[in-house]
Amino acid sequence: MGNIKRIGILTGGGDCPGLNAAIRASTKTAIQEGYEVIGIKNGWKGLFDNDYELLDYMRTSGIIDRGGTILGTSRFSPLRIDNGPKVVLDEVKKLDLTGLIVLGGEGTLTVSYKMFQMNLPVVGIPKTIDNDVRGTDYSIGFQTAVQIATEALDRLRSTAESHHRVMLLEVMGRHAGWIATYAGMANGADAILIPEIPLDEVKLEGLCQMLKKRNEKGINFSVVVVAEGVLLEGKTIVREFPDTANRERRELLGGVGKVLGEIIEAKTGLETRVSSLDYIQRGGTPVAYDRSLATAFGVKAIALIQQKKFGEITALRGNGISSSPLAEVAKGIKKVYINAYRVAERFFG
Ligand code: F6P
Repeated sequence: MGNIKRIGILTGGGDCPGLNAAIRASTKTAIQEGYEVIGIKNGWKGLFDNDYELLDYMRTSGIIDRGGTILGTSRFSPLRIDNGPKVVLDEVKKLDLTGLIVLGGEGTLTVSYKMFQMNLPVVGIPKTIDNDVRGTDYSIGFQTAVQIATEALDRLRSTAESHHRVMLLEVMGRHAGWIATYAGMANGADAILIPEIPLDEVKLEGLCQMLKKRNEKGINFSVVVVAEGVLLEGKTIVREFPDTANRERRELLGGVGKVLGEIIEAKTGLETRVSSLDYIQRGGTPVAYDRSLATAFGVKAIALIQQKKFGEITALRGNGISSSPLAEVAKGIKKVYINAYRVAERFFG
């Protein structure tokens, strides 16, 4: 056991704006507190590839506003290969890490929880545009995705009005509708469709009636936002992709907007056009809120390591920065609070 205190940092799962702000804050705080910092490349995979870089003040300066992650990321999971957990634990010991900071969404943090149960000295920082991580009000990246989606909806509203059309925007969010709910609310969308409220035949009919009624009232355009995980008559719309990181096939949500747009046009006779934000909502510079949240989480992560409070994530609760157990995160995704949705729903139609 050397006398140098050393911390590792990795970013796993989908990237998002704000990751670099968190890497910057964790690294600079760690150095201020006397630690050396090792950046682990491409998520958990870096531990299997011996792929590391020393992080210092220089390397983490000027990155607070940069999208993505300077460390790279992947969806590689050590739980999906033989002996994976042992490799992680052995590498962490070999690197002589006092603690490991994992920036992740629900999936990566659930892996972190399982590794914590095997005595990995891990602290999590919740990041995902989906905001579906339990134990924290917001995760890094969410507010930026909401801003991007709101701006897109605002733009669609002007062209919908000009052409007297129904404009549909598909947004990400996996199996939760946080981005759709908050961007739709901010735009004043005429309807917000989320996985938490399955779109059965009755709801679909009600949506079409509402759109037609708007038209009959002389408001001859509408803007509708739909989350990619919406259940259309009990099924999600998915596409199949190779998951190279884990050498398997992976179903990816996406395409419900197109299917729904065709149904709406057929049922209402209203000209309907569909756009999808796809990866645009996950790219580029973080908004100020995400930079500050990431900075506060980075500082908190070092404090948790100093207190040896492993098995926790940094958390925003109300306006306060605290921590929550990884065990809480591992219970599954955080669904949209229905009373938040009901606030937006007041203004539909
Ligand atoms: O979890 C973040 C996210 O962007 C989801 O909203 C989306 O469904 C998924 O990642 C896309 O996965 P990938 O980046 O592997 O295509």
